[in-house]
Amino acid sequence: MARYLITAGPTRESIDPVRFLSNRSSGRMGYAIASALLELGHQVELVSGPVNIEPPTGANTTQVESALEMLAAAEQLWGQCDGIFGVAAVADYRPANTSAEKLKRQADTLFSLQLEPNPDILATLAAKKDQRLAVGFALESDPSHNEAKRKLVAKNLDFVALNGISAQGAVQSAITLLDGADGIWQLGPAEKSELARELVRAVGITASRA
Ligand code: CTP
Repeated sequence: MARYLITAGPTRESIDPVRFLSNRSSGRMGYAIASALLELGHQVELVSGPVNIEPPTGANTTQVESALEMLAAAEQLWGQCDGIFGVAAVADYRPANTSAEKLKRQADTLFSLQLEPNPDILATLAAKKDQRLAVGFALESDPSHNEAKRKLVAKNLDFVALNGISAQGAVQSAITLLDGADGIWQLGPAEKSELARELVRAVGITASRA
């Protein structure tokens, strides 16, 4: 039996107590991968941003909000895991300052928000992966493999799953899976639950014998 870490869902980056920056990620793909791994008898550490779906039964779930919280939770768990699937749609930036008070509307002035970059969670963890498995996603408007390959190398991944913008929030999806050599696998289109099973198989994970 192996133990896998999955980051899933969006992150929320607070502007003030009532407002945040986020994205359209539903968490479905990450949760489907968690289910597929559990079906094969593996253990799952699911670190999830805020979503409207239930975590699969049997997953150890840690709920977080921001990218910094997601990184802290994932770093804590990574030492006990055999692989990581970075499926979260981590906000690339967070407000440089979060207001403790609700910001007031000012009718006659332009408002600008200063943003600072968030850490790359998957790259941070995969840098310390040794022989462990690291799988990432690349959500791209451009269907060529260039950006996905660049991310695979930059983040020290074994595989990258390329999908289009339409995958976000959708029930069905399709993936082009790439490895660090010339391997290319077309997975789906299929419901994310089936696509996740195909993905887990394609990266070489088999049923636990324990
Ligand atoms: N990722 C991460 N932490 C970040 C950004 C991305 O862990 N701060 C992970 C995602 O979970 C995904 C992969 O890195 O597995 C690629 O995410 P993507 O949003 O496609 O790429 P970015 O690296 O953010 O690059 P860009 O937004 O410029 O395309």
